[in-house]
Amino acid sequence: MTTVLVLNGPNLGRLGTREPDVYGHTTFADLSEHLVDTGRSLGLDVQVRQTDHEGEMVGWLHEAADLGCWVVLNAAAWTHYSIAVADAAAQVAHYIEVHISNVYAREPFRHHSVLSAKAVGVIAGLGLGGYDLALAHVAAELGTGATG
Ligand code: DQA
Repeated sequence: MTTVLVLNGPNLGRLGTREPDVYGHTTFADLSEHLVDTGRSLGLDVQVRQTDHEGEMVGWLHEAADLGCWVVLNAAAWTHYSIAVADAAAQVAHYIEVHISNVYAREPFRHHSVLSAKAVGVIAGLGLGGYDLALAHVAAELGTGATG
């Protein structure tokens, strides 16, 4: 099966307890399990990771670049200012930027993304379902799974 990395940045490991009015009640562990299942049904080997350390994220993006695999990327706060993450993401063949919340309806500092210009597409504000939509797009592009 084709590997897809779903990479998550700082504070997303606290899903379920972090600002549930914004991010919902589902835990990161439950999200991860769900996305692995969704991936399997789409013919994708989904690996879900989360880090609070920028260098670790950069390393994972290098890994994706070397593997030539698709990435679903919620870089969280790094989205808005990390040139290191943007430079690493730019080496990845295809990545989809995902945000759980509608960043454009929030504080002005969330309106700018250093990642969007090189992303295949951006999904924001559709809750955790945004990750599923991103995986469905990857499967369609790769021609895997029932909907491919
Ligand atoms: C987020 C939005 C970011 O502005 C924020 O820093 C996050 C999560 C989202 O998924 O809505 O941590 O990327």
